Amino acid sequence: MFASAIHEPALALAELLLENLQNPRMQRVFYSDNGSTGVEVAVKMALTATSVRYGYEDAQEVGVLGLKGSYHGDTIGAMDCSEPSTYNERVHWYRGRGHWFDFPEVKMKEGVWVVEPPVGGEGEFGPAIKFESLDEVFDMEARDGSPAAEKYRKHILETLERLVRVEGKTFGALVMEPIMLGAGGMLLVDPLFQRTLINTIRDSHSLFSDSPAPTAPDAWTGLPVLFDEVFTGLTRLGPFSPSTLLGTQPDISVHAKLLTGGLVPLAATVASESIYDVFLGDEKRDALLHGHSYTAHAVGCAVAEASVKELLKIEGGKEWEAFKAPWGKTKVESAPGEKVGVWSMWSPTFLDSVSRRVEVESVVALGSVLAIKLRDENPGYTSTAALGLQSALSRAEDGFGIHSRVLGNVFYVMASQTTTVDVVRRIEERVIQSL
Ligand SMILES: Cc1ncc(COP(=O)(O)O)c(C=O)c1O
Repeated sequence: MFASAIHEPALALAELLLENLQNPRMQRVFYSDNGSTGVEVAVKMALTATSVRYGYEDAQEVGVLGLKGSYHGDTIGAMDCSEPSTYNERVHWYRGRGHWFDFPEVKMKEGVWVVEPPVGGEGEFGPAIKFESLDEVFDMEARDGSPAAEKYRKHILETLERLVRVEGKTFGALVMEPIMLGAGGMLLVDPLFQRTLINTIRDSHSLFSDSPAPTAPDAWTGLPVLFDEVFTGLTRLGPFSPSTLLGTQPDISVHAKLLTGGLVPLAATVASESIYDVFLGDEKRDALLHGHSYTAHAVGCAVAEASVKELLKIEGGKEWEAFKAPWGKTKVESAPGEKVGVWSMWSPTFLDSVSRRVEVESVVALGSVLAIKLRDENPGYTSTAALGLQSALSRAEDGFGIHSRVLGNVFYVMASQTTTVDVVRRIEERVIQSL
Protein backbone atom coordinates (compact mmCIF):
# COMPACT_ATOMS: atom_id res chain seq x y z
CA MET A 1 0.00 0.00 0.00
CA PHE A 2 2.82 2.42 0.88
CA ALA A 3 5.14 1.68 -2.07
CA SER A 4 5.60 4.84 -4.18
CA ALA A 5 2.99 6.57 -2.02
CA ILE A 6 2.91 8.97 0.91
CA HIS A 7 0.30 10.08 3.40
CA GLU A 8 0.20 12.88 5.88
CA PRO A 9 0.56 10.92 9.17
CA ALA A 10 3.66 9.09 7.84
CA LEU A 11 5.30 12.33 6.76
CA ALA A 12 4.41 14.17 9.97
CA LEU A 13 5.79 11.36 12.13
CA ALA A 14 9.02 11.11 10.11
CA GLU A 15 9.61 14.84 10.50
CA LEU A 16 8.83 14.72 14.22
CA LEU A 17 11.20 11.82 14.84
CA LEU A 18 14.06 13.28 12.81
CA GLU A 19 13.74 16.64 14.54
CA ASN A 20 13.70 15.22 18.06
CA LEU A 21 16.28 12.44 17.77
CA GLN A 22 18.77 15.29 17.36
CA ASN A 23 21.05 13.07 15.30
CA PRO A 24 22.49 15.17 12.48
CA ARG A 25 23.30 11.98 10.51
CA MET A 26 19.68 10.90 10.22
CA GLN A 27 17.54 11.84 7.25
CA ARG A 28 15.42 8.84 6.27
CA VAL A 29 12.65 6.82 7.96
CA PHE A 30 11.40 3.35 7.03
CA TYR A 31 8.21 2.05 8.65
CA SER A 32 7.33 -1.48 9.67
CA ASP A 33 5.16 -2.88 12.42
CA ASN A 34 7.13 -4.25 15.39
CA GLY A 35 10.55 -4.00 16.97
CA SER A 36 11.85 -7.30 15.59
CA THR A 37 10.95 -6.35 12.03
CA GLY A 38 12.40 -2.88 12.55
CA VAL A 39 15.68 -4.59 13.50
CA GLU A 40 15.48 -6.93 10.46
CA VAL A 41 15.14 -3.90 8.21
CA ALA A 42 18.02 -2.14 9.97
CA VAL A 43 20.28 -5.18 9.62
CA LYS A 44 19.42 -5.47 5.92
CA MET A 45 20.32 -1.80 5.48
CA ALA A 46 23.62 -2.10 7.34
CA LEU A 47 24.80 -5.38 5.78
CA THR A 48 23.94 -4.19 2.27
CA ALA A 49 25.78 -0.89 2.82
CA THR A 50 28.88 -2.72 4.06
CA SER A 51 28.73 -5.43 1.37
CA VAL A 52 28.52 -2.82 -1.39
CA ARG A 53 31.32 -0.66 -0.02
CA TYR A 54 33.71 -3.48 0.90
CA GLY A 55 32.78 -5.88 -1.94
CA TYR A 56 31.49 -8.59 0.42
CA GLU A 57 29.16 -10.11 -2.21
CA ASP A 58 31.12 -13.37 -2.31
CA ALA A 59 31.83 -13.60 1.43
CA GLN A 60 30.69 -16.89 2.94
CA GLU A 61 29.22 -15.29 5.99
CA VAL A 62 28.90 -11.70 7.16
CA GLY A 63 28.41 -11.36 10.92
CA VAL A 64 27.72 -8.53 13.33
CA LEU A 65 29.63 -7.18 16.31
CA GLY A 66 27.61 -6.78 19.49
CA LEU A 67 27.48 -7.30 23.24
CA LYS A 68 26.95 -10.50 25.21
CA GLY A 69 23.41 -10.78 26.56
CA SER A 70 21.84 -8.65 23.81
CA TYR A 71 18.31 -9.27 22.60
CA HIS A 72 16.95 -7.86 19.34
CA GLY A 73 13.66 -9.64 18.75
CA ASP A 74 12.23 -12.95 17.69
CA THR A 75 12.32 -12.95 13.90
CA ILE A 76 15.13 -15.09 12.53
CA GLY A 77 17.44 -12.29 11.33
CA ALA A 78 17.01 -10.34 14.58
CA MET A 79 17.73 -13.52 16.55
CA ASP A 80 20.89 -14.18 14.57
CA CYS A 81 22.24 -10.83 15.83
CA SER A 82 22.39 -12.26 19.37
CA GLU A 83 24.72 -14.86 20.86
CA PRO A 84 23.29 -18.31 21.73
CA SER A 85 20.93 -18.01 24.74
CA THR A 86 17.71 -19.29 26.28
CA TYR A 87 15.76 -17.21 23.74
CA ASN A 88 17.09 -19.03 20.70
CA GLU A 89 18.20 -22.38 22.10
CA ARG A 90 15.21 -24.30 20.72
CA VAL A 91 14.88 -22.44 17.43
CA HIS A 92 15.87 -24.72 14.60
CA TRP A 93 16.96 -22.04 12.14
CA TYR A 94 18.85 -19.91 14.63
CA ARG A 95 22.46 -19.36 13.58
CA GLY A 96 24.12 -16.65 15.66
CA ARG A 97 26.42 -14.81 13.32
CA GLY A 98 28.91 -12.50 14.92
CA HIS A 99 31.16 -11.74 17.83
CA TRP A 100 29.75 -10.51 21.12
CA PHE A 101 31.98 -8.55 23.48
CA ASP A 102 31.80 -9.02 27.22
CA PHE A 103 31.60 -5.65 29.01
CA PRO A 104 31.88 -3.93 32.41
CA GLU A 105 28.56 -3.20 34.15
CA VAL A 106 27.38 -0.21 36.18
CA LYS A 107 25.59 -1.04 39.44
CA MET A 108 24.95 0.30 42.91
CA LYS A 109 26.39 -1.89 45.66
CA GLU A 110 25.96 -0.99 49.31
CA GLY A 111 25.16 2.61 48.46
CA VAL A 112 28.05 3.12 46.01
CA TRP A 113 27.95 3.30 42.19
CA VAL A 114 30.60 0.99 40.75
CA VAL A 115 31.74 -0.05 37.29
CA GLU A 116 32.62 -3.70 37.57
CA PRO A 117 34.46 -5.86 35.03
CA PRO A 118 32.89 -9.22 34.14
CA VAL A 119 34.01 -12.14 36.34
CA GLY A 120 37.64 -12.96 35.46
CA GLY A 121 37.86 -9.91 33.16
CA GLU A 122 40.14 -7.63 35.23
CA GLY A 123 42.97 -8.27 32.77
CA GLU A 124 41.05 -6.94 29.75
CA PHE A 125 38.87 -4.32 31.45
CA GLY A 126 40.79 -3.23 34.55
CA PRO A 127 39.67 -3.34 38.20
CA ALA A 128 36.27 -2.28 39.58
CA ILE A 129 36.02 1.52 39.89
CA LYS A 130 33.92 3.39 42.47
CA PHE A 131 32.11 6.63 41.56
CA GLU A 132 30.67 9.45 43.67
CA SER A 133 27.49 9.57 41.59
CA LEU A 134 25.79 8.15 38.51
CA ASP A 135 26.46 11.48 36.78
CA GLU A 136 30.17 10.84 37.21
CA VAL A 137 29.81 7.42 35.52
CA PHE A 138 28.17 9.16 32.55
CA ASP A 139 30.66 12.03 32.35
CA MET A 140 32.09 10.93 29.03
CA GLU A 141 34.35 13.94 28.57
CA ALA A 142 36.10 13.32 31.87
CA ARG A 143 36.32 9.56 31.37
CA ASP A 144 37.47 9.59 27.71
CA GLY A 145 41.07 10.16 28.73
CA SER A 146 41.01 7.75 31.71
CA PRO A 147 43.12 4.59 32.05
CA ALA A 148 39.84 2.62 31.75
CA ALA A 149 39.19 4.10 28.28
CA GLU A 150 42.72 3.18 27.19
CA LYS A 151 42.30 -0.36 28.53
CA TYR A 152 38.97 -0.74 26.69
CA ARG A 153 40.41 0.61 23.42
CA LYS A 154 43.35 -1.78 23.58
CA HIS A 155 41.13 -4.79 24.29
CA ILE A 156 38.67 -3.88 21.51
CA LEU A 157 41.44 -3.29 18.94
CA GLU A 158 43.26 -6.51 19.80
CA THR A 159 39.99 -8.45 19.56
CA LEU A 160 39.05 -6.88 16.21
CA GLU A 161 42.50 -7.53 14.77
CA ARG A 162 42.38 -11.16 15.85
CA LEU A 163 38.88 -11.69 14.47
CA VAL A 164 39.52 -10.01 11.11
CA ARG A 165 43.24 -10.55 10.41
CA VAL A 166 43.91 -13.88 12.14
CA GLU A 167 40.55 -15.66 11.99
CA GLY A 168 39.54 -14.09 8.65
CA LYS A 169 36.02 -13.19 9.83
CA THR A 170 33.86 -10.69 7.98
CA PHE A 171 31.63 -8.17 9.78
CA GLY A 172 28.86 -5.94 8.48
CA ALA A 173 27.67 -3.82 11.42
CA LEU A 174 27.89 -3.02 15.11
CA VAL A 175 24.46 -3.84 16.57
CA MET A 176 23.74 -2.71 20.16
CA GLU A 177 21.04 -1.79 22.62
CA PRO A 178 22.41 1.55 23.83
CA ILE A 179 23.02 1.92 27.60
CA MET A 180 20.87 -0.92 28.90
CA LEU A 181 20.40 -4.52 27.75
CA GLY A 182 16.75 -5.33 28.45
CA ALA A 183 15.76 -8.96 28.05
CA GLY A 184 19.36 -10.01 28.81
CA GLY A 185 18.82 -9.01 32.47
CA MET A 186 18.43 -5.20 32.63
CA LEU A 187 22.20 -4.83 32.48
CA LEU A 188 23.49 -1.27 32.64
CA VAL A 189 26.53 -1.27 30.35
CA ASP A 190 29.44 1.00 31.21
CA PRO A 191 28.65 3.84 28.78
CA LEU A 192 32.37 4.42 28.36
CA PHE A 193 32.73 0.89 26.99
CA GLN A 194 29.95 1.37 24.41
CA ARG A 195 31.32 4.76 23.40
CA THR A 196 34.87 3.40 23.08
CA LEU A 197 33.61 0.41 21.07
CA ILE A 198 31.81 2.72 18.62
CA ASN A 199 34.73 5.13 18.29
CA THR A 200 37.29 2.35 17.89
CA ILE A 201 35.26 0.67 15.13
CA ARG A 202 34.73 4.02 13.38
CA ASP A 203 38.48 4.71 13.58
CA SER A 204 39.38 1.24 12.27
CA HIS A 205 38.49 1.76 8.63
CA SER A 206 41.85 0.30 7.54
CA LEU A 207 40.93 -3.00 9.19
CA PHE A 208 38.08 -3.43 6.73
CA SER A 209 39.37 -1.73 3.56
CA ASP A 210 42.55 -0.50 1.84
CA SER A 211 40.73 2.41 0.21
CA PRO A 212 40.61 5.80 1.99
CA ALA A 213 37.79 6.35 4.51
CA PRO A 214 34.91 8.52 3.29
CA THR A 215 34.94 12.07 4.58
CA ALA A 216 31.32 13.22 4.11
CA PRO A 217 29.95 14.26 7.54
CA ASP A 218 27.09 11.75 7.59
CA ALA A 219 29.03 8.85 6.02
CA TRP A 220 29.72 5.81 8.18
CA THR A 221 33.31 4.65 8.64
CA GLY A 222 34.62 1.25 9.79
CA LEU A 223 31.20 -0.36 10.14
CA PRO A 224 27.70 1.13 10.28
CA VAL A 225 26.58 1.59 13.89
CA LEU A 226 23.06 0.30 14.50
CA PHE A 227 21.27 1.20 17.74
CA ASP A 228 18.36 -1.00 18.72
CA GLU A 229 16.43 1.60 20.76
CA VAL A 230 13.26 -0.49 20.84
CA PHE A 231 13.44 -0.84 24.62
CA THR A 232 15.72 2.01 25.71
CA GLY A 233 14.48 4.74 23.39
CA LEU A 234 11.87 7.49 23.46
CA THR A 235 12.32 8.58 27.13
CA ARG A 236 12.42 5.10 28.71
CA LEU A 237 15.82 5.95 30.22
CA GLY A 238 15.06 9.66 30.59
CA PRO A 239 16.22 11.42 27.43
CA PHE A 240 14.29 11.12 24.16
CA SER A 241 17.22 9.22 22.64
CA PRO A 242 19.72 7.27 24.78
CA SER A 243 22.50 8.21 22.38
CA THR A 244 22.60 11.65 24.01
CA LEU A 245 23.88 9.84 27.13
CA LEU A 246 26.71 8.28 25.12
CA GLY A 247 27.58 11.50 23.34
CA THR A 248 27.82 9.59 20.08
CA GLN A 249 25.26 8.91 17.38
CA PRO A 250 24.32 5.80 15.37
CA ASP A 251 24.01 5.52 11.57
CA ILE A 252 20.78 3.53 11.88
CA SER A 253 18.35 3.37 14.82
CA VAL A 254 15.24 1.31 15.49
CA HIS A 255 12.19 2.56 17.42
CA ALA A 256 9.04 0.74 18.54
CA LYS A 257 7.33 0.05 21.92
CA LEU A 258 6.81 3.57 23.36
CA LEU A 259 6.51 4.86 19.79
CA THR A 260 2.78 4.17 19.91
CA GLY A 261 2.41 3.98 23.68
CA GLY A 262 1.41 0.33 23.35
CA LEU A 263 -1.86 1.13 21.57
CA VAL A 264 -1.23 -0.16 18.03
CA PRO A 265 1.80 -1.78 16.39
CA LEU A 266 4.33 0.36 14.54
CA ALA A 267 8.11 0.52 14.20
CA ALA A 268 10.43 3.04 12.59
CA THR A 269 13.93 2.33 11.30
CA VAL A 270 15.78 5.61 10.90
CA ALA A 271 18.88 5.90 8.72
CA SER A 272 21.46 8.34 7.39
CA GLU A 273 21.54 9.47 3.78
CA SER A 274 24.77 7.52 3.30
CA ILE A 275 22.89 4.28 4.12
CA TYR A 276 19.86 5.27 2.01
CA ASP A 277 21.99 6.01 -1.08
CA VAL A 278 23.13 2.39 -1.26
CA PHE A 279 19.64 1.32 -2.33
CA LEU A 280 19.41 3.69 -5.29
CA GLY A 281 19.98 1.81 -8.55
CA ASP A 282 18.62 0.97 -11.97
CA GLU A 283 17.40 -2.51 -11.15
CA LYS A 284 14.63 -3.64 -8.85
CA ARG A 285 17.06 -5.84 -6.90
CA ASP A 286 19.03 -2.72 -5.89
CA ALA A 287 16.11 -1.45 -3.80
CA LEU A 288 15.47 -2.21 -0.11
CA LEU A 289 12.96 -4.94 -0.85
CA HIS A 290 11.28 -5.13 2.51
CA GLY A 291 7.60 -4.51 2.28
CA HIS A 292 4.66 -5.43 4.48
CA SER A 293 0.98 -4.98 3.75
CA TYR A 294 0.76 -2.68 6.77
CA THR A 295 3.93 -0.67 6.17
CA ALA A 296 3.36 2.85 7.50
CA HIS A 297 -0.20 2.02 8.53
CA ALA A 298 -1.86 5.43 8.60
CA VAL A 299 -3.62 4.89 11.95
CA GLY A 300 -0.36 3.58 13.46
CA CYS A 301 1.51 6.66 12.24
CA ALA A 302 -1.17 9.01 13.57
CA VAL A 303 -1.11 7.27 16.98
CA ALA A 304 2.69 7.40 17.02
CA GLU A 305 2.69 11.11 16.24
CA ALA A 306 0.33 11.74 19.16
CA SER A 307 2.35 9.44 21.43
CA VAL A 308 5.70 11.07 20.59
CA LYS A 309 4.23 14.54 21.17
CA GLU A 310 2.93 13.36 24.55
CA LEU A 311 6.34 11.89 25.47
CA LEU A 312 8.05 15.15 24.57
CA LYS A 313 5.61 17.04 26.77
CA ILE A 314 6.22 14.63 29.65
CA GLU A 315 10.00 14.88 29.19
CA GLY A 316 9.93 18.60 29.94
CA GLY A 317 6.90 18.55 32.25
CA LYS A 318 6.27 19.31 35.94
CA GLU A 319 5.84 15.68 37.08
CA TRP A 320 9.28 14.73 35.78
CA GLU A 321 10.80 17.83 37.37
CA ALA A 322 9.69 16.33 40.69
CA PHE A 323 11.41 13.02 39.85
CA LYS A 324 14.60 14.82 38.88
CA ALA A 325 14.80 16.98 42.02
CA PRO A 326 16.20 14.30 44.40
CA TRP A 327 18.85 13.55 41.74
CA GLY A 328 19.97 17.17 41.90
CA LYS A 329 18.51 18.11 38.51
CA THR A 330 16.50 21.26 38.45
CA LYS A 331 15.93 21.58 34.73
CA VAL A 332 16.21 19.51 31.58
CA GLU A 333 19.36 20.27 29.64
CA SER A 334 18.56 18.88 26.25
CA ALA A 335 19.77 21.37 23.66
CA PRO A 336 21.79 19.63 20.90
CA GLY A 337 25.32 18.91 22.03
CA GLU A 338 24.59 19.83 25.65
CA LYS A 339 25.27 17.40 28.44
CA VAL A 340 22.16 15.54 29.61
CA GLY A 341 22.25 14.53 33.25
CA VAL A 342 21.16 11.09 34.40
CA TRP A 343 18.30 10.51 36.81
CA SER A 344 15.57 8.02 37.56
CA MET A 345 11.94 8.00 38.67
CA TRP A 346 13.27 5.74 41.49
CA SER A 347 14.79 7.93 44.19
CA PRO A 348 18.48 7.80 45.22
CA THR A 349 17.55 7.19 48.89
CA PHE A 350 15.40 4.20 47.91
CA LEU A 351 18.21 2.74 45.76
CA ASP A 352 20.66 3.30 48.59
CA SER A 353 18.55 1.37 51.12
CA VAL A 354 17.71 -1.46 48.69
CA SER A 355 21.39 -1.88 47.80
CA ARG A 356 22.27 -2.32 51.51
CA ARG A 357 19.88 -5.23 52.09
CA VAL A 358 21.67 -8.53 52.68
CA GLU A 359 19.56 -10.37 50.11
CA VAL A 360 20.47 -7.85 47.39
CA GLU A 361 23.61 -8.22 45.29
CA SER A 362 23.17 -4.90 43.43
CA VAL A 363 20.60 -2.47 42.06
CA VAL A 364 20.33 -0.30 38.95
CA ALA A 365 17.86 2.42 37.95
CA LEU A 366 17.69 4.82 35.04
CA GLY A 367 14.65 6.72 33.78
CA SER A 368 11.62 4.57 34.47
CA VAL A 369 13.50 1.26 34.89
CA LEU A 370 14.38 -0.32 38.23
CA ALA A 371 16.22 -3.68 38.44
CA ILE A 372 17.22 -5.46 41.63
CA LYS A 373 19.68 -8.34 41.41
CA LEU A 374 19.10 -10.79 44.25
CA ARG A 375 21.83 -12.95 45.71
CA ASP A 376 21.68 -16.59 44.65
CA GLU A 377 24.28 -19.33 44.72
CA ASN A 378 23.11 -20.29 41.22
CA PRO A 379 22.28 -16.99 39.56
CA GLY A 380 21.13 -16.72 35.96
CA TYR A 381 18.09 -17.54 33.97
CA THR A 382 17.02 -20.61 35.93
CA SER A 383 17.24 -18.90 39.32
CA THR A 384 14.02 -18.53 41.31
CA ALA A 385 15.47 -16.00 43.79
CA ALA A 386 13.29 -13.11 42.60
CA LEU A 387 9.97 -14.97 42.53
CA GLY A 388 9.15 -14.39 46.24
CA LEU A 389 9.47 -10.63 45.88
CA GLN A 390 7.40 -10.69 42.70
CA SER A 391 4.59 -12.65 44.27
CA ALA A 392 4.55 -10.53 47.47
CA LEU A 393 4.16 -7.37 45.38
CA SER A 394 1.46 -8.79 43.15
CA ARG A 395 -0.88 -9.24 46.17
CA ALA A 396 -3.18 -6.24 46.25
CA GLU A 397 -3.11 -4.20 49.47
CA ASP A 398 -5.80 -1.52 49.70
CA GLY A 399 -6.51 -2.26 46.05
CA PHE A 400 -2.85 -1.59 45.15
CA GLY A 401 -1.12 -4.55 43.46
CA ILE A 402 2.18 -4.24 41.61
CA HIS A 403 2.92 -5.98 38.33
CA SER A 404 6.60 -6.77 38.01
CA ARG A 405 8.79 -9.05 35.89
CA VAL A 406 11.56 -11.47 36.70
CA LEU A 407 14.61 -12.47 34.64
CA GLY A 408 16.26 -15.26 36.69
CA ASN A 409 17.58 -13.63 39.86
CA VAL A 410 16.83 -10.14 38.53
CA PHE A 411 13.58 -8.51 39.62
CA TYR A 412 12.49 -5.49 37.60
CA VAL A 413 9.70 -2.95 37.33
CA MET A 414 9.14 -0.20 34.84
CA ALA A 415 6.98 2.75 35.73
CA SER A 416 4.88 4.07 32.88
CA GLN A 417 6.02 7.45 31.55
CA THR A 418 2.77 8.83 33.01
CA THR A 419 3.14 7.28 36.49
CA THR A 420 3.01 9.95 39.19
CA VAL A 421 5.58 10.60 41.93
CA ASP A 422 3.12 9.45 44.64
CA VAL A 423 2.60 6.08 42.97
CA VAL A 424 6.33 5.48 42.48
CA ARG A 425 7.05 6.33 46.14
CA ARG A 426 4.28 3.95 47.21
CA ILE A 427 5.83 1.16 45.14
CA GLU A 428 9.21 1.92 46.70
CA GLU A 429 7.70 1.47 50.18
CA ARG A 430 6.14 -1.84 49.21
CA VAL A 431 9.42 -3.09 47.71
CA ILE A 432 11.32 -2.24 50.91
CA GLN A 433 8.66 -3.98 53.05
CA SER A 434 8.56 -7.05 50.81
CA LEU A 435 12.28 -7.68 50.41
C1 LIG B 1 15.88 -4.34 22.59
C2 LIG B 1 14.73 -4.98 21.87
N1 LIG B 1 14.78 -5.12 20.54
C3 LIG B 1 13.76 -5.66 19.84
C4 LIG B 1 12.64 -6.12 20.48
C5 LIG B 1 11.53 -6.73 19.70
O1 LIG B 1 10.44 -5.89 19.63
P1 LIG B 1 8.97 -6.48 19.33
O2 LIG B 1 8.58 -7.26 20.54
O3 LIG B 1 8.13 -5.27 19.09
O4 LIG B 1 9.10 -7.33 18.11
C6 LIG B 1 12.54 -6.01 21.88
C7 LIG B 1 11.35 -6.52 22.60
O5 LIG B 1 11.31 -6.71 23.77
C8 LIG B 1 13.61 -5.43 22.60
O6 LIG B 1 13.59 -5.29 23.93
